Amino acid sequence: GTHPAWLPPEAFRPIGSRRTLVLGDGLLTETVHDEAARACARYGGHVHRHTRNEPYDLVLALTTAEPLPGPAQTVLDEFRSTTGPPANTIGGEGYLTARRHGVTTVLADDAAGLLYGLFHVVRLGERAFTEERPPERHAPTMRRRMLDHWDNVDIHPVMGQVERGYAGGSLFWRDGAPRGDLARVRDYARLLAACAVNAISVNNVNVHATEALLLTDRLGDVAAIADVLRPYGIRVHLSVSFASPVTLGRLPSADPLDEDVRKWWADVTERVYDTIPDFGGYVVKADSEGQPGPFAYGRDHADGANLLAEALEPFGGVVHWRAFVYNHRQDWRDRSTDRARAAHDHFAPLDGRFRDNVILQVKHGPIDFQAREPVSPVIAAMPATHLAVELQVTQEYTGQQRHVCYLAPMWREVLGFRPWGPDGPAVADVAGGVSGNGGGLVGVSNVGDDPYWTGHPLAQANLYAFGRLAWAPWTDPAAILDEWIDLTFTPAATGDTEPAATRETERLRHILHTIMDDSWRTYERYTAPLGVGFMVRPGHHYGPDVDGYEYTPWGTYHFADRDGVGVDRTRATGTGFSGQYPPAWSEVYESLDRCPDDLLLFFHHVPYGHVLHSGSTVIQHIYDTHFAGAGQAVEAGRRWEEAAGLVDPSLHARVTDLLAEQIRCAGEWRDQITTYFFRKSGKPDTRGRHISR
Ligand code: GCU
Repeated sequence: GTHPAWLPPEAFRPIGSRRTLVLGDGLLTETVHDEAARACARYGGHVHRHTRNEPYDLVLALTTAEPLPGPAQTVLDEFRSTTGPPANTIGGEGYLTARRHGVTTVLADDAAGLLYGLFHVVRLGERAFTEERPPERHAPTMRRRMLDHWDNVDIHPVMGQVERGYAGGSLFWRDGAPRGDLARVRDYARLLAACAVNAISVNNVNVHATEALLLTDRLGDVAAIADVLRPYGIRVHLSVSFASPVTLGRLPSADPLDEDVRKWWADVTERVYDTIPDFGGYVVKADSEGQPGPFAYGRDHADGANLLAEALEPFGGVVHWRAFVYNHRQDWRDRSTDRARAAHDHFAPLDGRFRDNVILQVKHGPIDFQAREPVSPVIAAMPATHLAVELQVTQEYTGQQRHVCYLAPMWREVLGFRPWGPDGPAVADVAGGVSGNGGGLVGVSNVGDDPYWTGHPLAQANLYAFGRLAWAPWTDPAAILDEWIDLTFTPAATGDTEPAATRETERLRHILHTIMDDSWRTYERYTAPLGVGFMVRPGHHYGPDVDGYEYTPWGTYHFADRDGVGVDRTRATGTGFSGQYPPAWSEVYESLDRCPDDLLLFFHHVPYGHVLHSGSTVIQHIYDTHFAGAGQAVEAGRRWEEAAGLVDPSLHARVTDLLAEQIRCAGEWRDQITTYFFRKSGKPDTRGRHISR
């Protein structure tokens, strides 16, 4: 019993009941054929690999296949005549769709594009075969759309099998060994291909002793995973320890400028490519939270990253070097050190020094995946570096897959942010790059061996949305949710147009939108206010503990006292972090008048009576949002009751249980936060609601 997520068999009925032609060579074209054949075996259609003298409903063809059947050739000619060279290629991983004279056509220059085109037809459902449409080109904005698994091979004594995993064990590893059962991994690969993810890294960025061996002695385990992912166009990457030359190679040093160290990495990497010819590359967390790195040898991060990049370069591999570097042993008494500044302080001076196959992987915010942070200023500071933006699909700080928190609206905001002002490029443009040469989008995966993949069945939408936004960052999150709902739950896409079915579909769609569309903001309302962040329980990071991190070495403080709250990160009187942004935003954040309300406490320490743009005071805003947010959680629970009978009963029951926990936890947040700030400030709620003293 694994839930089919967004690929239930019924989603393939429109294809499976028709006549399909698949033309072209290569492994991924075979996958396209196999997918269509499986659907046809179930629903009575036919699929052919060679043109016969008969009509087809669907043609899926590589542009290199010759001769193309008439209708497909017409579509290609039409596309070329309207675009003209040099834009008249469809491009890597892209596809062209059209429906002309009763034939639905998908054309692609490469087989990956054909596979994504097939899933496009799946998404369209019956509409793919009923509505005429002109040629339409689809191509990914992000060249690499990658998921990082924080999976451990061994069970880690504190972090377990999956670090920050909320969906059971690992898909790949169990108790120190590969799981062996790769059928689940194959299903995962299909799901990822259906939302166009094309790379994954299979182990935790914190590389412990056993996991370090994946690079050498246990490379076969990685190769077995790569074999299963390959037919779905997904390449495998590996998190490696910077200290490997010492711990695995028994060299006296891992100094990046040492000849023996360079040779060690070159040899090891060559062996990796002998075993996995399409290996993607290395992911490295260095000099961060105790992981080894170049600082031990007096070298910088460019020296470190370039060492690995040099070894990978002959094989076309890349190194994802993470910018999540800060002092996690800070003295809380020291007000001059600001964790938010750290990544920019470390990396901005290195712009231009990284080799071409280094991708600097930058968390979207300057701190750590909080429900609300400004966009990291590093993203605007490194024009001469390939830069990937890292999102956290796993809900470490957004409810741990016990709370409904649809993250696409947050990601869409991040990707659409324009660091240089309204006329400059957006974050999506930086990560996408000019002509697709950016570093792409990386997400920390939220899946495990849970039957629903993601623990909370509704958290599947986050995984789906990650892939869709990496492909097309300007897509409306509500439209992505519609796709996900149609594929996952409803017969609408499969042609069941009976009025009763249509009505039920619409009801369910409405309920899910009501619960999910605004769920990120709901979560924000009942947790840390106004962008201040980190009021979670230390360690596991679930539930409220306002001062939990206040006197710790982690650099995550809110500085609440009897008069006010927030972190002064201005240039004028604070840590100067606001100065790390280009002028357009630096000035906005610096100014108490102009700083957006939702980031006010990230940038400013203000009195409780400070009046927001909304007209409310800070203290009243805290009370109002917390009562509202916890109330919205209750309302979500009530709405979900209405979905009984519209979804599978066991899925309904699982979500019902989780919503009960969300309601409990949201109430706890509301009570701790309101009481805490009432006690600090002595200011009553102007609306007289009950606050414990
Ligand atoms: C967070 C998370 C850690 C993780 C780290 C990282 O701090 O709590 O578990 O290792 O991010 O991104 O490296």
